[in-house]
Amino acid sequence: MKKNKNILISGGAGFIGSNLALYLKSLDYNVSVLDNLKQQVHGDSPDNSVLYQNIKNKVNFILGDVTVKEDWIEAIDGQDVIVHLAAETGTGQSMYEISRYVKENVEGTAILWDVLVNKKNTIKKIVLASSRAIYGEGLYKCQGVCGLFTAQPRTKTEFQARCWDPICPVCSGPAQPMATPETAIPIPVSLYACTKLAQEQMSLTMGKALGISVAVLRLQNVYGPGQSLRNPYTGILSIFSNQLRQNLPVNIYEDGAESRDFVFVKDVVQACTRAIEFRDRSIVVNIGSGRPTSILELAGILKQCWRSDSPVTVTGAFRVGDIRHNWADLTQLYQLWPDWKIMNLDTGLAQFITWARGQSVFEDKTHSAERELKARNL
Ligand SMILES: NC(=O)c1ccc[n+]([C@@H]2O[C@H](COP(=O)([O-])OP(=O)(O)OC[C@H]3O[C@@H](n4cnc5c(N)ncnc54)[C@H](O)[C@@H]3O)[C@@H](O)[C@H]2O)c1
Ligand SMILES: [Zn+2]
Repeated sequence: MKKNKNILISGGAGFIGSNLALYLKSLDYNVSVLDNLKQQVHGDSPDNSVLYQNIKNKVNFILGDVTVKEDWIEAIDGQDVIVHLAAETGTGQSMYEISRYVKENVEGTAILWDVLVNKKNTIKKIVLASSRAIYGEGLYKCQGVCGLFTAQPRTKTEFQARCWDPICPVCSGPAQPMATPETAIPIPVSLYACTKLAQEQMSLTMGKALGISVAVLRLQNVYGPGQSLRNPYTGILSIFSNQLRQNLPVNIYEDGAESRDFVFVKDVVQACTRAIEFRDRSIVVNIGSGRPTSILELAGILKQCWRSDSPVTVTGAFRVGDIRHNWADLTQLYQLWPDWKIMNLDTGLAQFITWARGQSVFEDKTHSAERELKARNL
């Protein structure tokens, strides 16, 4: 028997949200979506948004904005759980659209809690999509004798000298990256990360005060069917795939050894679903695959998948706000859910490629996104 039957997903027309909405629907939940169908994600017309079309008429759709109090008030009526996904998600873009990112991510969440504390409601739980970005560079171990440390953000001077890897703050010697556990000290490197950390802290604090349990899911890099192929600010798989399908050059930052933990969207959907039904206590948990893949390796795999002639070049360029490595320590995830299963990258990528083959190819706008950073000395 389901404890929580009525689920509101903010940002439920997006990549993760639309996958979650359809899955919850298949499990017989009553699903509502609050989404403003942002142009950067959905394009100029909702009629052409594949993601929106997928959920249209299958869920109770509320066209609204999380920065508008009245929209929250309308949407939370009769709900048991809110899965709060609506956000601005571009790490690079967040570095020069600061007030917009703060407004959407921090104020949007603030207004949600304002409504929960000031209006009578039936909400019992909030599931919040946070990000591994909050850790920044994450956990490292000195290769000498100094032990573990949380790496500080890399500086522009280090980038310019092509010193890509964080070094030990005690002996200045080399250090090796480690899987990052939830207990690592968050040291955001991007403004996006600051907003996600603020969302977490506001939600855990207010949840405790109001007796609403909060499940903070710290997601690694999510990929899979439905990820935006048109947004040049997020989603390395989409960006590379778009370039590879058009045989355009694929340029790789730093020395290509930088790595990410790629987690399949269905694993994230599974985590949200379990969090919805989880006991009435707050949790903060990493959701990832638990293993790093270098960006150069990823580009190679994708190039083969797409049978592309694109030249793949490691450029040594960099973006302030990017991290070097980060992958999830999954100890706590397995403690919560011992039967947890992880989609392996090859199978997940095959599903992504099959889906993407059926989608349009979009104009490659990554250069204009890069120019926006360069113009601001970032
Ligand atoms: N995709 C990832 O790799 C990843 C990784 C870590 C965390 N996350 C987090 O997961 C959540 C969902 O990410 P996603 O990849 O599905 O993003 P997405 O951009 O595909 O979806 C976001 C949805 O939110 C909607 N939205 C944006 N601003 C809104 C507003 N002000 N009011 C109402 N709706 C609004 C958009 O229209 C879109 O449908 C975000 O909070 C993001 O920070 C994602
Ligand atoms: Zn040392």
